[in-house]
Amino acid sequence: MIRIASVLAVAAVLLVAGGRSSFAQSPAQTVKERQDAMEKNWNDYYRDIAGTIRSGTPDLALIAAKAQQASDHVKQTAMLFPAGTGRDAVPKTRAKPEIWTQRADFEAAFKALIDATNTIGEDAKKGDVEKVKADWVSVAKACGGCHGGPKKSGGKFRFEEE
Ligand code: HEC
Repeated sequence: MIRIASVLAVAAVLLVAGGRSSFAQSPAQTVKERQDAMEKNWNDYYRDIAGTIRSGTPDLALIAAKAQQASDHVKQTAMLFPAGTGRDAVPKTRAKPEIWTQRADFEAAFKALIDATNTIGEDAKKGDVEKVKADWVSVAKACGGCHGGPKKSGGKFRFEEE
């Protein structure tokens, strides 16, 4: 655990410094890092937003804070799909080859998620509960641009779990 934590810490520092390319990381390490990053997006940010919206009385301060964190973290996640990290190199990845053959669509899908996340955060700050609820549907749709919700689901850019 400590080792993984320190690797992530180093990676985070490099991300902030914009120095990823100088970090000689194996394709398998990159896949692990992005799978963990995707899990974190759900476990640490979006799940909390979903929960408070489902409660019927959304905690707008929580949504604003989580949306900000999610937006930042999704931007980092988007950097973890370099060429050479598909199934031919790392069999356990669920990243589809379309990520590299339809790069503009893939990047647009990430941008759609970041935009939807920023919007829900801004509307939460404005105190507009009804808009926040509608924004949440847009966020979920943005996830669906790449893959379905259930853990095993596939989609345009993710293989279904075997
Ligand atoms: C731009 C495309 C894209 C978007 C948008 C996207 N994902 Fe993903 N996600 C992927 C890909 C590709 C994988 C598989 C990564 C791999 O196996 O290397 C993945 C994997 C995951 C995983 C599983 C991690 C694992 O161990 O394989 C979770 C959980 C997840 N995403 C959650 C989300 C949530 C929640 C959202 C929306 C808030 C979202 N994703 C939006 C592309 C996306």
